[in-house]
Amino acid sequence: MTVYHLPEDFYFGGATAAYQVEGATKEDGKGEVIWDKYLHEQGTINPDPAADFYHRYPTDLDLCKKFHINAIRVSIDWARIFPEGTGKLEPRGVAYYHKLFKKCHEDGVEPFVTLHHFDTPQALQDKGGWLSEEMLDAFVDYAKFCFKEFGDEVKYWITINEPTSMAGQQYVSGTFPPAYTNEFAKCFQAEYNQNLVHARIVNAFKAGGYDGKIGVVHALQTVYPASPSEGDKHAAALKDALENRFYLDGTLAGHYSDETLALVQEIIEANDQQMIEIKPEDEEVLTKAAKSLDFVGVNYYFSKFMKEHHGENVFHHNGGGEKGTDVNKMKGVGEEVHPTDLPATDWDWIIYPKGMYDQLKRVHDNYPDVPEIYITENGMGYKDKFLGPDKAIDDAPRIQYLKAHILEVAKAIQDGIPVKGYFVWSLQDQFSWTNGYSKRYGLFYVDFETQARYPKQSAYWYRGLADSKQIST
Ligand code: BG6
Repeated sequence: MTVYHLPEDFYFGGATAAYQVEGATKEDGKGEVIWDKYLHEQGTINPDPAADFYHRYPTDLDLCKKFHINAIRVSIDWARIFPEGTGKLEPRGVAYYHKLFKKCHEDGVEPFVTLHHFDTPQALQDKGGWLSEEMLDAFVDYAKFCFKEFGDEVKYWITINEPTSMAGQQYVSGTFPPAYTNEFAKCFQAEYNQNLVHARIVNAFKAGGYDGKIGVVHALQTVYPASPSEGDKHAAALKDALENRFYLDGTLAGHYSDETLALVQEIIEANDQQMIEIKPEDEEVLTKAAKSLDFVGVNYYFSKFMKEHHGENVFHHNGGGEKGTDVNKMKGVGEEVHPTDLPATDWDWIIYPKGMYDQLKRVHDNYPDVPEIYITENGMGYKDKFLGPDKAIDDAPRIQYLKAHILEVAKAIQDGIPVKGYFVWSLQDQFSWTNGYSKRYGLFYVDFETQARYPKQSAYWYRGLADSKQIST
């Protein structure tokens, strides 16, 4: 048995996102976001009251304190502050976030605050979303407003949560509104624009001389070839460019390598679309931001194993937790396959803790100038069973998952990789954008009828870890 130690000043956090927890989507002058319209049209998930965090944040922060969780990831719902995305300000939204941050500090819980977590104001999506200059300019203005307004209360800022998930699901798989499919060029254009606007915001933050740190959060799923064949290796390289490299280059190096661009071009052209324009003048903005970036957040859930695929795009999203139903074959990229010796969740997410270590090492080796890394999301979606108010929910598979992944984080720290904190996704149960309320991730069970919270076994286990700061093989 080997015992690994986590640093004394390590953050043991829990993560949330505004739209997934707050509810109150029509309260206090909040404007419409893309999900309001989309979920209403789909008629599947009701985002109200979600986990009712808008009213119950004091309960959740009390639980953080009780369970020795010393950091929380929250996001600001842009449309609570600027209902139309720009222009008229809603003071009640501003007041809510002041109250939330105050409560965090009263309870000794450090807020890590994301400016954009998938919830684009509808008014800006109508103007073209990430593909429109108006949206990008409005995002910079909103960010500057937040720095000025909340700068005394927030020391850790995150510009964008998972640009890759956002663009990929908006333009390729069609699982996020406005749900376009197979638009690879638009997907990369949206990614390019997100990298650039992220950089503009980092540069504005630094120019403002705020006391705090700023970073970006990427979904980094480690990609491996399914076999040693050249075709599978190339499929893995293409998938990695699509899901990881294009962002990492743009935000952490401030420069797209020729190899990354060649892979991107190959994907776009294989889908009979035109390569996007990389403007030489943008590089200065990107490089400046990359050089002064304080941290990168890594969201790691699963790894992907790729086989070459030369046919058409075929997608089936396993949103219902029916194992073995997920299909992802991407033209010009490859097919995701499931090695028989690896376990997976009911939603077909392959459980591979070593992918966490490999990803951290890759980020650190290839982008060595990034001073700090945080695991901003990691966790297991599970169909937790409620056994009654007096019993802690038995979520042994989740504990096993968390333990195996945090062990890899501890190994990375021992090997000199500067990981400064870890956030379980999620703090409390909340709904999943494309999978609804039955895919639970929380340390705290939420009864969505009564909104009562119940600690799961994993919450007790996590408190033990935060106290001992030791994890063993
Ligand atoms: C991340 C997001 O992609 O993964 C979260 O930042 C999300 O918002 C989480 O909920 C888990 O994904 P899912 O699809 O299971 O909800």
